[in-house]
Amino acid sequence: MSSIHTCVDARRLAQKRLPWLVFDYIDGAAGEGFGERLNRERLRAIRLQPRVLNNVEHRSVSVDVFGDTARLPFGISPMGMCNLSSPHADKWLAQLAARHAIPVGVSTAASTSLEDMIRMAEGHAWFQLYFSGNEESSNALIKRADDAGYKTLVMTVDVPEVGRRPRELRRGFKMPFKMGPSQLVDFALHPRWSINTLRYGKPELANFGGQFGAFERTASRAGADWSLLAKIRDSWQGNLVVKGVLSVPDALKMKSMGIDAVQVSSHGGRQLDSGPPAIDCLARIRDAIGPEYPLFFDSGLRSGEDIVKAYATGASYVFMARPLLFAMAAEGRAGLDQLSDVLSQETSIALAQLGVCSITDVVRDMLVE
Ligand SMILES: Cc1cc2nc3c(=O)[nH]c(=O)nc-3n(C[C@H](O)[C@H](O)[C@H](O)COP(=O)(O)O)c2cc1C
Repeated sequence: MSSIHTCVDARRLAQKRLPWLVFDYIDGAAGEGFGERLNRERLRAIRLQPRVLNNVEHRSVSVDVFGDTARLPFGISPMGMCNLSSPHADKWLAQLAARHAIPVGVSTAASTSLEDMIRMAEGHAWFQLYFSGNEESSNALIKRADDAGYKTLVMTVDVPEVGRRPRELRRGFKMPFKMGPSQLVDFALHPRWSINTLRYGKPELANFGGQFGAFERTASRAGADWSLLAKIRDSWQGNLVVKGVLSVPDALKMKSMGIDAVQVSSHGGRQLDSGPPAIDCLARIRDAIGPEYPLFFDSGLRSGEDIVKAYATGASYVFMARPLLFAMAAEGRAGLDQLSDVLSQETSIALAQLGVCSITDVVRDMLVE
């Protein structure tokens, strides 16, 4: 029987099983971690208004996303180096995406190649691009994604420089790993993880090497600008999502440029410790951009009730990141399946409490001011 009944359980179990270095890479945030905490605390502070006697017997947590029916109320946000949490993490995420027809974000810095990911996800994969600072190599990656059959490109724009994440820095987190005395002690104290990693090989940046050169995780991407986004919009025929937007004027400009969706996100507090809570930005952007424009959301969602709050605030679809890695670190594939069931059930029960049967019926009025 699984020990995972909430996202908090997944995190607590993962903390026991993962080397400190890996746990702090996943759990860590920019600066003091205040912005990361605030994302969660603001969500928790939102209250939902129950309604009764509406007959809510037949409920669904499905959501329409770019014309497909996603059968879970959340998608998988792109994450670099997922296989650090468990050697098969990428495969399990892709299989979850295939099973429920939800999008799995495939990071530029993924530990499985973008070609393998879309195959395992049976087409339900979105490629996430980090502009490399070099247009030619970014275009080569975009072309590869196109050739592999990707229909949706997610351009992440909130990493002009990688945020300083002190918990990673203190542990000496580097890709590839730098092995010093403290890492040796760390790995020795977490033998299950270390033996598995030795058995299946240490995770690599799988989209790089050979003709695609090296990827420097902490390289500057400060050269990205609006003209670059306009060029990508012109050349990419599929859906283009811009991820990492917190400002109303930026979102409005993207809408006017023909970007298909904006993902309101503070990168889970990993970039600017002093940034505003992402959920507050979602409310402001939704008010300014109108009811129809697709707005995706991530950062700090930790329960089905949080998911419902994001939809009530104006999200068209939401994404989760850290809890999914923790569930796999804790209990492997079963842990991921268990947590996704928990989140789906929590969402469905929250809908019942609010007196509605579907996420499309969730509206701003359900938030208690
Ligand atoms: C370990 C880790 C790696 C990440 N790597 C990427 C990445 O490569 N590209 C990206 O756009 N976002 C990346 N993110 C940010 C997530 O996509 C997401 O925006 C963020 O974690 C917020 O969600 P959460 O609060 O559910 O963790 C990463 C997050 C984590 C925790």
